[in-house]
Amino acid sequence: MKDIKKVFSDRRSINYFDKSKKIDDKILKDIMNMAVLAPSSFNLQPWEVIVVKSDHAKKKLYEEACNQKKVLDASANLVIVGNTIGYKRDNIMYDEKIKNGLPEETAEKIIETSENDLYPTQEKKVAFAVRNSSLLAMSIMYAAKYYDVDTHPMIGFNEEKVKELFDIQKHKTVTMIISIGYHDDSKEIKPRERRLQYDEIVKEY
Ligand SMILES: Cc1cc2nc3c(=O)[nH]c(=O)nc-3n(C[C@H](O)[C@H](O)[C@H](O)COP(=O)(O)O)c2cc1C
Repeated sequence: MKDIKKVFSDRRSINYFDKSKKIDDKILKDIMNMAVLAPSSFNLQPWEVIVVKSDHAKKKLYEEACNQKKVLDASANLVIVGNTIGYKRDNIMYDEKIKNGLPEETAEKIIETSENDLYPTQEKKVAFAVRNSSLLAMSIMYAAKYYDVDTHPMIGFNEEKVKELFDIQKHKTVTMIISIGYHDDSKEIKPRERRLQYDEIVKEY
């Protein structure tokens, strides 16, 4: 069993992936199924993941992701998608909640409060999608490291173009792309940059 501290300290954003090393489908599934333990608002899990692994699709993604070579070299790229209206009734999680005893009226109340008070504007809807799916993204990166798999998160891409490429609906965000695979051991990983510490980022009240 891997120490959580080691998972945190070993995770790095990997710029050079070994093209010849492919991630096993079973390991990718294990990583994803570990990562979905991430928390989300009302456990609505307003997220989806598109796995880009064919050379053809990678090339298209690379062109819309500022020609970042890791997109081509990584075994796969995970397009993390958030649903800006994932709090609405068609989210299948409500059916499970109701089956498990949540009164239908309470579900309706959650939806009403979400629409009118919590996420009334487009900006807040996007924040809902991005906040939730970012937690999934981070969980994927730590779960990957648990399995000795490397990752690199990216927001350097043309969101509209990426949505077109993978038929992502208008009301969904592309929160980030995570390249996933194995580090090319012939390349050096730069030392980690300093992190701001408690006293530099915390205000106590
Ligand atoms: C939301 C987000 C977006 C990022 N976008 C890019 C990117 O487009 N291209 C890139 O090379 N690195 C990108 N990075 C990687 C960061 O540069 C990297 O995480 C940071 O320098 C810390 O390094 P470490 O992850 O190795 O600790 C991104 C990281 C995050 C969290």
